[in-house]
Amino acid sequence: MKKNFDILIASVVVILGVFFLFYQSRDMPGQLPNLSMNQPADKEDNQTIKVEESPLPIPPLLENQSTDPNKAEFHLTAQNAEKEFVPGKRTETMGYNGNYLGPVIRVRKGEEVLVKVENELEDDITTIHWHGLEVDGDKDGGPHSGIHPGESWSPEFKIEQPAATLWYHPHPEQQTGRQVYNGLAGLFLIEDDVSDRLDIPKDYGVDDIPLIIQDKRFNSEGGFEYKLGMHDVMHGLQGDTMLVNGSVNPFLDVPRDVMRLRLLNGSNASVYELNFSNNQSFHQIASDGGFLEEPVKMDKIVLGPAERAEILVDFSNLNEGETIKLENSGSEFMKFTAKKESGKKYNIPTTLTTIEKMDADDAVNTREFVFEGMGPRVNINGKQFDMNRIDEELNLNDTEIWEVSNESGMGMMGGTVHPFHAHGTQFQVLDRDGNPPPPNEAGWKDTFLVSPGEKVRVIATFKHSGKFMYHCHILEHEDAGMMGQIKVE
Ligand code: C2O
Ligand code: CU
Ligand code: CU
Repeated sequence: MKKNFDILIASVVVILGVFFLFYQSRDMPGQLPNLSMNQPADKEDNQTIKVEESPLPIPPLLENQSTDPNKAEFHLTAQNAEKEFVPGKRTETMGYNGNYLGPVIRVRKGEEVLVKVENELEDDITTIHWHGLEVDGDKDGGPHSGIHPGESWSPEFKIEQPAATLWYHPHPEQQTGRQVYNGLAGLFLIEDDVSDRLDIPKDYGVDDIPLIIQDKRFNSEGGFEYKLGMHDVMHGLQGDTMLVNGSVNPFLDVPRDVMRLRLLNGSNASVYELNFSNNQSFHQIASDGGFLEEPVKMDKIVLGPAERAEILVDFSNLNEGETIKLENSGSEFMKFTAKKESGKKYNIPTTLTTIEKMDADDAVNTREFVFEGMGPRVNINGKQFDMNRIDEELNLNDTEIWEVSNESGMGMMGGTVHPFHAHGTQFQVLDRDGNPPPPNEAGWKDTFLVSPGEKVRVIATFKHSGKFMYHCHILEHEDAGMMGQIKVE
């Protein structure tokens, strides 16, 4: 009897032990150093870069090579390069047609577009994905559309969606984070009759200014560090040096007038909270997929990785010569200095466009997507990405409700906010935890933040066939497998 009891106790101990180990390894990667949760692993080697201010570079508009007025043809080459972000120090980079980021592709609704993309990288594969663009899966540039070195890829598609600020970036399986971090990204702008008609600044590079905002970590040699420490595996790679259009500490002289800024959070993993140092308000006029119905007045904007916002900023309340700063969570990273009026006066429009509200009753299906796990085990619905597995099958032209919730992380350690993104369509947000979306999320969205414990309901019609990705846009999470694929037929 006594012996049996001992065996029973021993087995309970063993079972508890195994369970404990399993639980540890399941929810926490390996040897998690408790105290360094919020410290990058290689802190000693990181340098917060102090660089003298320089004028904001404006990415050039890419020249249209087509002679046919109804068509547009663009050429991009992905290449390895070097750039001096820090005087006297060379940083190895990647760029499209240049040494960092890429030129701006600008197209019109209704246009037939061909983009020839050449891979001259030393990497063995890249792809190019048109983030936010509604095209068929084989033109979308996901992980299936690999371009090997010396090869090119020339998708052709028709622009069938409204004016918007979209972007392009690589999407190779498990290498998206490093390639984007090294500099592969660019803007993709759509114009249409609505954007033509609106009386807002639209002179690109003059009063219509793109701001591609990113954060980087430089090592002591001035190099980009794409080396993932524990913190990066958990939260994605977050840097301590901000870049705007690839420049550290830039300034822009602005007329004392209304200016339009097209903001892209082009970071790998950081959520930005942007405001001006004088706390002046501005109006958001567009979200990811195009204009809002009306401008939304705000004095701070939160942008998750891959999200875009167009804002109108009225600099006329500044004195001539006065400088204000753009800040992220209270730290400045860019300056604006007010100069003389340009002579062009704009009022903030009262209406911008009309967006047909999608009705939850029109949805034929509801799907659930749950962000789960943490660190190397991040997943969606319990599954990590497998290029050979289709996770969800949809019917072409169906309208569906997607319920996206975030149950990743574990109580004690807090959770991580995950930006959800899906290819091939634009969504409307129905509600966040049952509440209507804030007014600046009432337009078209292709990427939206989901906070720990939150549930976001969105609705979309899937008008393009093929295979498309949905994933967390923290690129280190995406690369670790927080991604799935849909097939629309
Ligand atoms: Cu911006 Cu699947 O990506
Ligand atoms: Cu995308
Ligand atoms: Cu994530």
